[in-house]
Amino acid sequence: MFFRKPSPTTPLHSLPSQTPSFSKSKDHHNNHIITNKLSYTLFLSLFLFSWLLLLRHHLTPLQNHTTATCHGSGPLFYIYALPSRFNLGLLQRCQNLNIYTNMCPHVANNGLGQPLATPSWYATHQFIGDMIVHARLQNHPCRTSHPHAARLFYVPFYAGLYSSSVFRQHNLTLRDALAVDLVHFLHRQPWWKRNNGKDHFVALGRTAWDFMRTEDGPDFGANIFLNLPTVRNMSVLTVERHPWQGHNQFAIPYPSYFHPKTLSEMLTWQDTVRQRPRPFLFSFVGGTRPNLAKAKVRDHIVTQCDASERCVLVQCASGDPRCHNPMNVVEVMSKSTFCLQAPGDSFTRRSTFDSVLAGCIPVFFSEHTAYTQYVWHFPTERDTYSVFIDEREVNEGKKRIEDVLAGIEEKEVAKMREVVIGLIPKLTYTHPNASGDVGFEDVVDVALQRLSQLVLNETTSLGSADI
Ligand SMILES: *[C@@H]1O[C@H](CO)[C@@H](O)[C@H](O)[C@H]1NC(C)=O
Ligand SMILES: *[C@@H]1O[C@H](CO)[C@@H](O)[C@H](O)[C@H]1NC(C)=O
Ligand SMILES: *[C@@H]1O[C@H](CO)[C@@H](O)[C@H](O)[C@H]1NC(C)=O
Ligand SMILES: *[C@@H]1O[C@H](CO)[C@@H](O)[C@H](O)[C@H]1NC(C)=O
Ligand SMILES: *[C@@H]1O[C@H](CO)[C@@H](O)[C@H](O)[C@H]1NC(C)=O
Repeated sequence: MFFRKPSPTTPLHSLPSQTPSFSKSKDHHNNHIITNKLSYTLFLSLFLFSWLLLLRHHLTPLQNHTTATCHGSGPLFYIYALPSRFNLGLLQRCQNLNIYTNMCPHVANNGLGQPLATPSWYATHQFIGDMIVHARLQNHPCRTSHPHAARLFYVPFYAGLYSSSVFRQHNLTLRDALAVDLVHFLHRQPWWKRNNGKDHFVALGRTAWDFMRTEDGPDFGANIFLNLPTVRNMSVLTVERHPWQGHNQFAIPYPSYFHPKTLSEMLTWQDTVRQRPRPFLFSFVGGTRPNLAKAKVRDHIVTQCDASERCVLVQCASGDPRCHNPMNVVEVMSKSTFCLQAPGDSFTRRSTFDSVLAGCIPVFFSEHTAYTQYVWHFPTERDTYSVFIDEREVNEGKKRIEDVLAGIEEKEVAKMREVVIGLIPKLTYTHPNASGDVGFEDVVDVALQRLSQLVLNETTSLGSADI
């Protein structure tokens, strides 16, 4: 159901303006949703894209794949050989890793999920970053097998997959057991002691909230991983950091669907979205959250979008098999100038990264959907690549979304779109089997460099840089 190839139907323009609304939990999940009618155009453009790709390969010399050295400022890092119960062993019960969904199709291909019709495109699950980062690092040119040479230590614990497998575990001792087990493992490692773990990091495919249960807080299924003192000494990469308590948490983008192996694939895709005509001023892909006060702005978005001829609204009922077609999502976004990114079950959305991938300028309604999160990956100057409309002003009827967006000059829009398209490489997870230096910096390269600076700073100030 999830992985149908796009089937040819009528083009986007005939999208019905009224579609049934729905609500669902974030897990249910990709927020996405759509009617089947959109697929044909994207199918065509992807076909064209593949063809361009072939052409490019014939016209330009192949990249130098033989130089798999750790270049530039990339730090050397070491990957712990963890007992398999912390990572690959979990996958043996992939049907029970997530209480909402069978994860087996999603953990395939090193976490990229099922391949789509176009090479390098996958139906990647939004909460699978643990695996994707691991796979990418395993084959990364800056990996070293000599811990004494490493500046960073990666702890490949699939904490996100573990977390979602025990959401319904009522016995808290059992729910936390694997996290506590990991900490015991780390304490025994000689390299932990060098810097008290300050040069160690983990990567979580889920939001920090899922690992921050407190004694007195509400229990919505979270475990205590990030609140363990040991883990607080490490750096934590997560798709959503706790904006106020996440001092050692650093947000990394959610994985989207494009996982290229070469620079030429990347350049070709950037050209493709650059050329796309964008008949729609704005679009919203997602649903309302009827019982969630913090997602109230979604009600206004849906109403306003539905009422505007210049907006595409993509909604569908929960469980609708049409909801999860990545090609449909990217298709709608690549026909829109602006893509609305409203907070839902949590502040952030995978959709933000789908929209950048489609060359669509994101519109944020909360500071915490991107600005306080992805400071390593987005420019500091928020106005250069995004629009901010305070959700309160929308909720109170002080601002109409269409008025704000239509008021931005064409020249300004073109400039922003170019910045957005330029961001695609940094927000991409390169295919884990790409060889050597692919010729652009991806999510993981950026994170490694930032982690390295951080560790240099911290360990120097501790006066413990050398062993
Ligand atoms: C390719 O690798 C060779 C050998 O390491 C090197 O001499 C050459 O400059 C590289 N070419 C490019 C385009 O990077
Ligand atoms: C990467 O290569 C390995 C070994 O050939 C293979 O088993 C794996 O499936 C490949 N990964 C992806 C995502 O294609
Ligand atoms: C929770 O599980 C632990 C470990 O199996 C057990 O010792 C403890 O009695 C359980 N607690 C409850 C309340 O069932
Ligand atoms: C965490 O780091 C502090 C120093 O900043 C150190 O005193 C403490 O022992 C470390 N904790 C662990 C578990 O290594
Ligand atoms: C490291 O320290 C320098 C100088 O104090 C500072 O400018 C820089 O922002 C710090 N970098 C990180 C990643 O904390």
